[in-house]
Amino acid sequence: MGIEWHPASRQLHLRNDRVSYLVRILEDGSIGQLHFGAALTEGRSYRHLGRAGFPGFMNRLDDPIALEYPTAGGGDYRMPALTIEQADGSNVVHLGYVSHRIVPGKAAIPGLPSTYLESDDEATSVEIELVDRPSGTEVTLSYTIFRDHPIVARHVRIRNGGASRLRVTTAMSASLDLPDDDWMLVQLSGAWARERHMTDRRLAPGRQSTASLRGASGHEHDPSLILRRATTTETAGEAYGLSLVYSGNFLAEAEVGPFATTRVRLGINPEGFAWILEPGEEFATPEAVLAYSSAGLDGLSAAYHALYRERLARGTWRDRPRPVLINNWEGTYFDFDETKLVDIASVARDLGIELFVLDDGWFGARDDDTSSLGDWVVDRRKLPHGIDGLARRIEALGLRFGLWIEPEMISERSQLFAAHPDWAIGIVGRPRTESRQQLVLDLSRPEIVDHLFTVLSELLASAPISYVKWDMNRNITEPASLGLPAHRQGEFFHRYILGVYDLYARLTAAFPEILFESCAGGGGRFDPGLLAFAPQAWTSDDTDAVERLRIQWGASLIYPLSSMGAHVSAVPNHQTGRLTPIAMRAAVAFFGVFGYELDATSLSPAERADVLDQVSFYKDHRALFQRGRFVRLRSPFEDDGNETAWMTVSDDRRRAIVGFYRTLNRPNPGVNRLRLRELDPAARYRVTLWPARADSIEHDNAVVRGGDELTQIGLFLDVDRHETSTHGDYWAQLFVLEAE
Ligand code: DGJ
Repeated sequence: MGIEWHPASRQLHLRNDRVSYLVRILEDGSIGQLHFGAALTEGRSYRHLGRAGFPGFMNRLDDPIALEYPTAGGGDYRMPALTIEQADGSNVVHLGYVSHRIVPGKAAIPGLPSTYLESDDEATSVEIELVDRPSGTEVTLSYTIFRDHPIVARHVRIRNGGASRLRVTTAMSASLDLPDDDWMLVQLSGAWARERHMTDRRLAPGRQSTASLRGASGHEHDPSLILRRATTTETAGEAYGLSLVYSGNFLAEAEVGPFATTRVRLGINPEGFAWILEPGEEFATPEAVLAYSSAGLDGLSAAYHALYRERLARGTWRDRPRPVLINNWEGTYFDFDETKLVDIASVARDLGIELFVLDDGWFGARDDDTSSLGDWVVDRRKLPHGIDGLARRIEALGLRFGLWIEPEMISERSQLFAAHPDWAIGIVGRPRTESRQQLVLDLSRPEIVDHLFTVLSELLASAPISYVKWDMNRNITEPASLGLPAHRQGEFFHRYILGVYDLYARLTAAFPEILFESCAGGGGRFDPGLLAFAPQAWTSDDTDAVERLRIQWGASLIYPLSSMGAHVSAVPNHQTGRLTPIAMRAAVAFFGVFGYELDATSLSPAERADVLDQVSFYKDHRALFQRGRFVRLRSPFEDDGNETAWMTVSDDRRRAIVGFYRTLNRPNPGVNRLRLRELDPAARYRVTLWPARADSIEHDNAVVRGGDELTQIGLFLDVDRHETSTHGDYWAQLFVLEAE
């Protein structure tokens, strides 16, 4: 692994065992892109890969030259990565090479979350300095190649080295020019309660994109873009991933140009964005994490999982086993008191659950969602002994205690709003749009972040609180800040997210023992940016087992199991009305950070026995479920989506658990084999079933079988034809594999 400077061809080669990233200083000083993809031999010149060896190419309008950080107005008519309005009103900059610096390790990006290292030998970085002399714009292109991952991380810093004000209106984190357009664009899209559904489409001439303008990454699209060949499968073929470590407005775009090349760009959404740089000021973009796989989508996901679990998530809880929790939200909603909560917790304790989480409704006078956000003071009508009194009773039972907060919000009916009506985001003279009867605090203003830090630190220090669920239940409207002058209002959305990051950074530093889980009405801000502060996130408000198959499958394209909160809830399911067996609900939720979202006191004796067994099974295999190598086997997005299968494998390949799920039963079914992956072909695995059964599935599978055989032939999923009618819908079966 390393970065090689080839002076004769003026080429930089970032390389590890799996990928090469090659750029070259072109004759006019701009940086050309030669290659990003499979690893190429070091010590060679690759200047011939860029057609831009010709002097004066900038006069050749429309030439599809591959550029590293394209700007507008110079004959490249594709979408630029950087646009800067200057004092004369023009937008043209031409960035020319000044110098570069290769350094071991990786630097942090001030104010922004990013991937990191534990020692400098894990990665090498290069910073390329560019300048546009007429405007005084100085740009640093920063790249890191990791030793152990097929990944290059990029970000850009822009400085005003001139004498006049600059207005940056586009500043992408990455731009990639691929030499053909033969790609499928894979995106993770949806809406509340159906986040991260995987869809794909063939690239077509022109621009195709996903984006957010909500002030959050959103339920609607993940801040990422994946390309695969039409023939790429889970296990074979090329794929690129670009994932943005950011939680605000983003743009992920692919543009097919007139000569069948593809430009991909990822970064802060330019729509509504304008950042002022006074002389001497600097702006840093978020980090884009670029991955390449020649081994299908699985290779891409494995790379993101490892990097994001180990070198994006951080803190005390990064590597610790995460507790099995019970959350009271769907069990009680706003209607609870101390006795009710302690009753739930004591049943939960008897069932082996480790953490009790008190959700919304414990503060102010909040009996519904019309009031009290901002007043983080306990409601003594419900909790006469305060949070401290409740937390101590929960701890006395033997559970840890966790608390829900929604720091970024304010209700009009609150003491905070009465004192500071101007703290809510809005525009003077215009009505504010309400959503869930609440407004958003202006976290672009440092004094509001300071206030929240003071109030929340007092709260978190006031009781034995081991876990915090940080929710965010509406998006921003009427975006403007009273803290910014008119000419800086285009900075508002980004400054808001910087405020969120600042608050997260201060609270996680002040309370390193607290496990933070991020949430935004489920998966409305489930993104790499927040993963840097909260190592787990509430994947979706939708806890229906069938819906969760698609949500968790989609999220797994990028996010590791350790980041996905997944709970068993009551039936009929509160989002879909569906009745699934509790075994299926658990078998889906096991693959992630497991818990319950129900009133444990209303479980029947039979259900209590089931939960006791589930919790103990999960604890026995917790490391596999939270940190195993996740492998997707059968997609809920393919064919009729009736069957899904996935598995998790230990690093040493001695243990694995396979999950198989079938939504609807069908009569007289065909032969069904499930081939496994990532097993040791030489090992012999003892196969056991959860739940245990006494039928042909048990008979056919619960034996010792070779890793080679399980990979080449697979598990037997044939339901005996005469048993089919008794089998029923919503069947989930786990297979536990242990090497002898
Ligand atoms: C939305 C979250 O996703 C839910 O889990 C719950 O915490 C509610 N908000 C509470 O208002």
